[in-house]
Amino acid sequence: MCDENTEKHCLPSFIEFSELESAGLLIINAGETEKTFDTVSDVCKSLLAEGADRKALLINLGGGVVSDIGGFAASIYKRGIDFINVPTTLMAMVDASIGGKTGVNLSGSKNSVGLFSSPQAVFIDSDFLSTLSDEEFHAGFAEVIKHALIGDAEYWNTISQLTDFRDVDDIDDIILPSVEIKKLITDEDFKESGIRKSLNFGHTLGHAYESSSMKLQTNKLLHGNAVALGMIGELFLSSKLAGFPTDKLTTVLDFLVLHYGKFIYSINESELSEFLLSDKKNENGKIGFYLLHDIGVGAGMFFPEPQLIEEAVAFTKSILTE
Ligand SMILES: NC(=O)c1ccc[n+]([C@@H]2O[C@H](COP(=O)([O-])OP(=O)(O)OC[C@H]3O[C@@H](n4cnc5c(N)ncnc54)[C@H](O)[C@@H]3O)[C@@H](O)[C@H]2O)c1
Repeated sequence: MCDENTEKHCLPSFIEFSELESAGLLIINAGETEKTFDTVSDVCKSLLAEGADRKALLINLGGGVVSDIGGFAASIYKRGIDFINVPTTLMAMVDASIGGKTGVNLSGSKNSVGLFSSPQAVFIDSDFLSTLSDEEFHAGFAEVIKHALIGDAEYWNTISQLTDFRDVDDIDDIILPSVEIKKLITDEDFKESGIRKSLNFGHTLGHAYESSSMKLQTNKLLHGNAVALGMIGELFLSSKLAGFPTDKLTTVLDFLVLHYGKFIYSINESELSEFLLSDKKNENGKIGFYLLHDIGVGAGMFFPEPQLIEEAVAFTKSILTE
């Protein structure tokens, strides 16, 4: 399965494998707005029309949207068929293709329906990135930054020196540590009862920004850019509640603002609470955030008072518009 862009840019080199000679091809429209039940239903109908039986294998060749949809469809079609992820965006290589989270958005709320379901394999070939736009590459890098911040201070030291994310000697040296961090965490805690929650750093506010921006006609935030903005507010909360050191806060914020500060969002803040209140990490109506004690050191889940969350949102806006 591809989307319209990966069919054009990635499929031609991929189908050179002779094993794929008799494979069928499913193509979905590209983009986050396609991450719906309707698309999953269309994929399942296409599998049925292709005569796919329970021994069928679905190969998801694309970014996180393709692997989230394809993984979900494969997991429910005929009560589950095998699937493989072949990620073609940086976001999917370092994050979305690994760890077995699949699903779609519901009523504009991010990933509200889905399954934990692991692919049989993930094949990462960074050559696919040659056709990826700078915007998408840059957005995907936000998850690299998140992995460094939650799990590896040395990795952070390396990436924090970069002025142009695309201008690295060997992108595999950036991808591999991220894959290792994500894999280590998800292997230990597949169903997110403990350490896996750390991967949600930046995502409580990030998903609210993203969901809210999905309602806009223009200026929609890419997932990674929304996460970068989310990390700003969640670092603020980390310094207030989890002892994140003030000097490091300044350093990390400067870096995030330098690289993501231009994504000033035209988002109606009163709408954010609607999405924050439907976040999957909430408990007993309290909005949950995974916060950091230091760079590379997680502090666990926190449930701040609404007033402090509003301050974090206001703080984010203020440093972006400074
Ligand atoms: N399941 C998870 O654990 C997980 C983790 C992170 C993100 N996600 C999800 O992933 C999605 C974002 O993924 P994404 O950033 O990969 O977005 P995406 O899949 O929408 O891809 C971005 C754009 O790049 C195009 N594209 C993909 N590969 C290309 C290539 N090699 N050359 C040219 N164009 C290419 C796509 O067609 C699309 O237009 C979000 O829905 C997010 O929620 C899931």
